[in-house]
Amino acid sequence: MPSLTREQVLDALRAIVDPDLHRDIVSLGFVKEVAICDGAVKVVIELTTPACPVKDQMKIQAEQILSSLPGVQSVNVQMTAQVRSRTMEPQDLLPEVKHIIAIASGKGGVGKSTVAVNLALALAETGAKVGLLDADIYGPSIPKMLGCQHEKPLVDEQKLVPIRRYGISVMSLGFLLEEDQAAMWRGPIVAGTVRQLFADVRWGALDYLLVDLPPGTGDAPMTTAQTVPLTGVVIVMTPQEVAATIAGKSVALFRRLNTPVLGAVENMAEFVCPHCGERTAIFPGPGARVFAERLGVPFLGSVPLDPQVSRSSDEGKPAIVSAPGSAQAQAFREIAGKLAAQVSIMSMGRE
Ligand SMILES: Nc1ncnc2c1ncn2[C@@H]1O[C@H](COP(=O)(O)OP(=O)(O)OP(=O)(O)O)[C@@H](O)[C@H]1O
Ligand SMILES: [Mg+2]
Repeated sequence: MPSLTREQVLDALRAIVDPDLHRDIVSLGFVKEVAICDGAVKVVIELTTPACPVKDQMKIQAEQILSSLPGVQSVNVQMTAQVRSRTMEPQDLLPEVKHIIAIASGKGGVGKSTVAVNLALALAETGAKVGLLDADIYGPSIPKMLGCQHEKPLVDEQKLVPIRRYGISVMSLGFLLEEDQAAMWRGPIVAGTVRQLFADVRWGALDYLLVDLPPGTGDAPMTTAQTVPLTGVVIVMTPQEVAATIAGKSVALFRRLNTPVLGAVENMAEFVCPHCGERTAIFPGPGARVFAERLGVPFLGSVPLDPQVSRSSDEGKPAIVSAPGSAQAQAFREIAGKLAAQVSIMSMGRE
């Protein structure tokens, strides 16, 4: 029997299509290595994010395809990931950070910081290098949510060293101000301070830097969005906001600023009973999914209301850490996967 060739292996793997990029993994250049030795085949498949939601499925599919090739006795499929970077300007503030993703909302209190924290942790869980910047300089809440509000960042060669917590790098004005010392600054000072949180912090090499923006569509979030080159923005919305068209305003505003809207996250639309798991919709109406579709914004998922989890978040242990098996934690993981996929689509689209 003629021995198996590299071309045969690649041809067979063309049957695997990336569901987000709508192309096969061979023409996408994801197959990095093919080794054939007697009846043993080894391939390395490199995805564009470790948070790829279909990573395991692709591995199984590749194993099945390769096992069925003539003369193959053993198959070894290795999955790796290399996040592709956003477009960099020559004077980029953070050349080592591949993607900067802002988390925004039309109004306050919709769960923006909760979403930012849990998405950062969910991405880190997959093996990605993740940072979280609390740009809500009026009411920095990230340190408390991560239970590290009493930490003081070190200064090394005139740069602040982020606090490491649950596997992510964190920086917030909350670490630098005394408690109750509210920041009451306006326009230019806001921009300068936010810029410092990017430029004067030793972020190091990161795949994703998530930025918790101040709420609303006023000066502060807009200035922040324009201070650094964002890959895009995620808009968090509750059903009430959707009904009141507030969420639509923030989508329109970011679009006007040429900031891509990576997706919408719905929060607190339904209640999952902790005893029986039954789901109850809290607010009538079409919800964020329909709304996002109408606006042409990817819908990333819905996070249920869970009093227990919000309590533990207030105590410094976000859902992903305190209740990793909860419906809420699961929702965050799915949203993180979809977000990473959207980021990959944008990066690949430019090539
Ligand atoms: N899915 C949820 N289930 C239960 N509680 C939640 C959920 N999402 C957020 N919360 C709670 O709602 C409150 C507000 O959330 P959070 O601070 O994340 O909102 P925010 O949009 O960042 O607010 P702000 O505009 O003040 O920055 C917090 O106490 C948080 O624990
Ligand atoms: Mg907040």
